[in-house]
Amino acid sequence: IRAQLADGPLTGKHVLVTSGPTHEPIDPVRYIANRSSGAQGTALARALRDLGANITFVTGPASVPPPEGVKVVPVETAQQMFEAVQNALPADAAIFAAAVADWRVANASAQKMKKDSTGTAPALSFTENPDILATVSQMGAGRPALVVGFAAETENVQAHATAKRARKGCDWIVANDVSPESGVMGGAHNTVTIIDAAGAETWAQMPKVQVAQKLAERIAAQLTKETS
Ligand code: CTP
Ligand code: CA
Repeated sequence: IRAQLADGPLTGKHVLVTSGPTHEPIDPVRYIANRSSGAQGTALARALRDLGANITFVTGPASVPPPEGVKVVPVETAQQMFEAVQNALPADAAIFAAAVADWRVANASAQKMKKDSTGTAPALSFTENPDILATVSQMGAGRPALVVGFAAETENVQAHATAKRARKGCDWIVANDVSPESGVMGGAHNTVTIIDAAGAETWAQMPKVQVAQKLAERIAAQLTKETS
């Protein structure tokens, strides 16, 4: 375990970070997932840790290992992530980098589904998962001073992300283009647009690690402003 910085800009701050995909079971051996690797959330947690923050890292089944020196809370489903987030509060800032499944299978089977002799394919029905970011953004007492969401979009990135920020009630949205041609999902680079109350700011394409460092610095500047 790596010691926290004794005197970083985020020393003494608790920052909650969600990361990775969620897995939504169909039956005990099958699930629905998405292509999130957890790379951006992991890099961000590491960068915030390096600025001295005390991190709770709530992560779905990611394909990259979690950072060292943070409190890791592994979860599988969106509902478990929601509970873990509630248990991790209060926090000075909450960063929602996870790619949470919007829906879960309503009729998940307790036993492995079997093919039937007639060749009939199963029908899945879905129910909406809790919106973790919106819930935390809209909580009254105990709301983190800074709530940051991510928005994965495949078109009209800035317009969709601006509408999303208003709908969720978060302070910032970090929007990125995840269309297949962007190469962001599973790739090492990211092109992000930060939407805040003042407007939109687009950063040049850079490695996810560098996006994380710049974001961590922006978060530190904001938290320092609010408490001094
Ligand atoms: N998010 C969340 N809980 C959910 C769904 C999303 O906390 N059930 C968070 C994500 O971690 C991300 C932000 O909300 O920070 C936006 O996720 P996104 O999927 O882009 O937004 P949605 O509102 O689900 O809209 P859509 O998928 O329809 O674009
Ligand atoms: Ca979604």
